Amino acid sequence: TFADLEPVKSDSLLALIELARADTRPEKIDVGVGVYRDSDGNTPILRSVKQAEQRLWQDQTSKSYLGGRGDVRFTQLLRPIVLGAHDGDERIAGLQTPGGCGSLTLGFKLLEAGNPDARVFVGTPTWPNHVPIIRGTTLEIVEYPHYDRASRKLCFDRMAEALKSARAGDIALLHGCCHNPTGADLASDEWAEVARIVADRGIIPFVDFAYQGLGDGLEEDAAGFWRLLDATDTLVAAHSCDKNFGVYRDRLGTLWFKTPDKASTDIAMGHVLQISREMWSMPPDHAAAAIRILLDDAALTADWRAELDTMRGRIAALRDRLAAADSELAYIGGQKGMFSMLPLTPDQVVKLRTDHAIYMADSGRFNICGLSDDQVDRFAAAVLQVMHG
Ligand code: LMR
Repeated sequence: TFADLEPVKSDSLLALIELARADTRPEKIDVGVGVYRDSDGNTPILRSVKQAEQRLWQDQTSKSYLGGRGDVRFTQLLRPIVLGAHDGDERIAGLQTPGGCGSLTLGFKLLEAGNPDARVFVGTPTWPNHVPIIRGTTLEIVEYPHYDRASRKLCFDRMAEALKSARAGDIALLHGCCHNPTGADLASDEWAEVARIVADRGIIPFVDFAYQGLGDGLEEDAAGFWRLLDATDTLVAAHSCDKNFGVYRDRLGTLWFKTPDKASTDIAMGHVLQISREMWSMPPDHAAAAIRILLDDAALTADWRAELDTMRGRIAALRDRLAAADSELAYIGGQKGMFSMLPLTPDQVVKLRTDHAIYMADSGRFNICGLSDDQVDRFAAAVLQVMHG
């Protein structure tokens, strides 16, 4: 019975939130969980989102159910941002989900329904929740190295080699941009090569697209995903608005899927709605309603884009500062998004925590923009000291 269950080792990222919160040392540096912080160390509600929420509060007259797809107008307005020139393709459908995690779970369950024996090719390291989500299905996991910690580089050859061993109908889990946890993204020619391999072998790409706009820009960050859409007629993508709209705890994601024709996309949507009905019935509304109001208003949308530019600019500036601090950290300047991975052992990560009040994931992943401006130098010095200690 459940009374006999073995204790679970909790997801260390979530445990880290609690550990950092409990530390009262004033010099504490929290570079654990992936949330944007401004130069003063705050995670503010975006101006544009706050205004949209104000309008929502004034204008909303009912909280009656909307249905399994959530706010359909929100998904329609997000569509051109996520799909670009593929916006008009009727073979691609999308619906609202509770965060990127909800869309990943829903997407893998859809793929399981289509082919329970398919294998999922997963580059490691990856977001720690990917593997447990896939393990919740019958799909088999095949791991390959995405990143080499020693050389601090993407192992593209290993990735290409692994994907070439896939069978038709197997799935490739790919990070659309801002790779979590390494920051090591594919270059444009590498995306082209992946697109060729998935098309040649009949692999289904599953793009985890949680950080659009936080790497090089909304369009630039989608370039790899759009290339895959050009190359293949069967694809799944999990998109998140939690980070780029800063609505984290309100949990706002979307699932997108493409099949060879509109009729099969409609059938897939029926399955998706049945699966989501069993899991959460209908997605939470608040953030979707607010972002719908925002995206329906040209001035608020322009302001959101400007705020996103500021977030991205801060991340890039911090990367440059860290890269300039020491040749050992130079690689951080060439990576994208909120995260990078330091070549630290778990013991060194614990030492940073106990001796320097610096909180990062056990893997050595740290959230670049967890650093306030006045913490950068102390952080770099402590990391180098522990690394060489
Ligand atoms: C992260 O990786 O820190 C974020 O995606 C938050 C999470 O849910 O793990």
